This record gives sequence, C-alpha cells and structure tokens, in this order.
Amino acid sequence: MTQQALRPDAVFMRIVDAIQARNPLQRKMIASVLARPDPVFWQRVASFSEHFEQLLAKHGIAVEKVADCYNKLCKDMLLEQIKFRKTGRYSSSSFAEVAQRVYHSEKEMEAMVYGLAMSQFLWRNHYGLFDYFIDTIGQLEAAGKVKTYLEIGPGHGLHLAESLRTFSQAHFDVVDISAISLGLSQRVVAEFAPGHDVDFHLKDVREFVGGSAYDLVVINEVIEHLEDPLSMMRTIAGLIGDTGHVFLTTCANAPSVDHIWLYDSVEAMRAHIAEAGLEIIHEKVLPVEDHIPREEWTERKVEINYGALCRRAGAKHV
Ligand SMILES: C[S@@+](CC[C@H](N)C(=O)[O-])C[C@H]1O[C@@H](n2cnc3c(N)ncnc32)[C@H](O)[C@@H]1O
Repeated sequence: MTQQALRPDAVFMRIVDAIQARNPLQRKMIASVLARPDPVFWQRVASFSEHFEQLLAKHGIAVEKVADCYNKLCKDMLLEQIKFRKTGRYSSSSFAEVAQRVYHSEKEMEAMVYGLAMSQFLWRNHYGLFDYFIDTIGQLEAAGKVKTYLEIGPGHGLHLAESLRTFSQAHFDVVDISAISLGLSQRVVAEFAPGHDVDFHLKDVREFVGGSAYDLVVINEVIEHLEDPLSMMRTIAGLIGDTGHVFLTTCANAPSVDHIWLYDSVEAMRAHIAEAGLEIIHEKVLPVEDHIPREEWTERKVEINYGALCRRAGAKHV
C-alpha cells in the first residue's frame, strides 16, 4: 500500500490539503511524507484516517479546524525554537502556570491534541517513536506479559487505542491532569477501540495511588512537562510490579510552550532513568538534525526524540 491506495477524499488527505493551503511552509515536508514508500506507514494512516473521520463527523469538527490546530502547533514551536536558540532555555518554568495556560484551556488543549494527532504521522521522529511503541507493545503481548496497564497523559489517545487493541484482555487505568485531554482520549477510545473497559482518572499522577503493581506503565511526552521529572520517574518505578515494564518517551533540546524540564543530551535522560531505579532494556534515539555527528549533539543543542523500554534495576526477567 502506498499513498495512492488511500482514497483521495480520505480525511487525512483533506486535512493535509487544508494544512498546505493555509501554511505553504509545510508543503516541502508534506511532499516528502506523501512520497513515503513504506506500506505499514500507509496502512496505519488509512486506519487512523477512517476512525478519525468518524470521530470528526460525530463531534461536528471541521477538517479546517484540525488543520488550524496543526498549524498553530507548528507556529508555536517555531517561536519557541527561536527563543531557545537565543536564550538556551525553555520559556516556561512553572508547572502551575503551564497547567493554567494550557492544560485547563479548551482552545490550547484542543490545538495541542489534534495538532499532535497529525504530527504523529507527519513528523518523521513522532512517527518513528510511534512505530517503536507499536513494535514494543507487540513484543510484550507476544510474551503474554501485560494484564494490567496504566497510561499517564494520553493526550490524543492514539497510543492508548493501539494498546487497547493489542492487550485485549488487560485492565486499563488512564490518568491525566487535564479534563479536556481526558475527554478527548475518551472520544478516541470510543471511536478507535470500542468495547473496552477503561478506568479514566482525572488526577495529577503524583497523587495517583493506583490499583495494582502494573505490568506496563506508559508515559509518552509528559516527563519534559514537569518541574521535577526525576521524582515522577521514581513514582513510575514504584507503580510497576517486579516483572513490570515502563515505556517512556521524552526529548532533549526540544522547546515547546508547555515544556519545562530541559534535558540537554541523551546522557541526561539516561541518568534520570538510572537514578529513578530503572534499567533500560532497549531505547530509540532520534535526532531531528540527523546529519550532525553524534559527538556534536550536545554542544550544538541538537533536538532529540527519545524512547525507552525499562524495568526495575536488577530485575531478572527479560
Ligand atoms: C504533550 S501531551 C502528551 C500526549 C501523548 N501522550 C503523546 O504522546 O502525544 C502531555 C499530556 O500530559 C498530561 N499531563 C501533564 N502533566 C501531568 C501530570 N502531572 N499528571 C497527569 N497528566 C499530566 C497533559 O494534560 C497532557 O495530556
């Protein structure tokens, strides 16, 4: 399957057309995505497109609105990148302030969630981590390891939907601090993976006690949103059982309106994982500027997307 196999009127293509019409700066990048020869990528896009179309229709959301959300995400990120190049810092430093401005604002949260849903397929590294996640949960399912699952900060809910389809017999808990985000995740679950029981908890995960020692805790793109990511990682390490796993993604040198903690290197991310009492089983390191030699990444502040599957340090199982 290639892009040609996707209906020209598929909602994904209509959103992509609307993005380009409103933001010509995106055209070159989108052309390279549309030329992708990877059939698995196009199968995933087709499945996303089909379910997303139903979701948008059911909730009366226009294609142009999703395009605007995506373009806002790109514009906000570009502005943050310019500031970051000048100052070497992220512009937000307080969780309370970001929570007020972003997590509890319908407009900001919708833009973030719908924008990120599109970036999951349009941005090379976001798709790279999504692909890594789908592969990893497939391996855990094949090993029969996941009966209890916790996801923290599902946002657009696409990872959660993949997990629901993969671990069809597991018990699911989901925690998010934002009612808006949680509501959108619920819509996505109802449309993308109906018929599953999920316990949604509107809570700061630091106050979440949890129902059990989880077999898998998933926390994607949340750690860098915190003032104290190490304490969050310690909390997560305490939420898995002796044979449990943590799947996490985070990033270095990646300014965004809601990013607070600045990791400046892969080593800094790994150091927090180790300090939290976790051990990396495998990881994915994706630099945005992939032509720069690795030894120059830190000095040149190369943006890096990072994912890892971890277990408790010293655990004997694979
Ligand atoms: C950028 S989104 C990540 C969405 C999705 N996981 C992804 O990979 O794109 C961050 C999410 O984390 C949630 N969040 C941030 N801090 C949190 C906290 N302390 N406890 C629970 N959820 C939190 C936000 O409300 C938001 O839904």
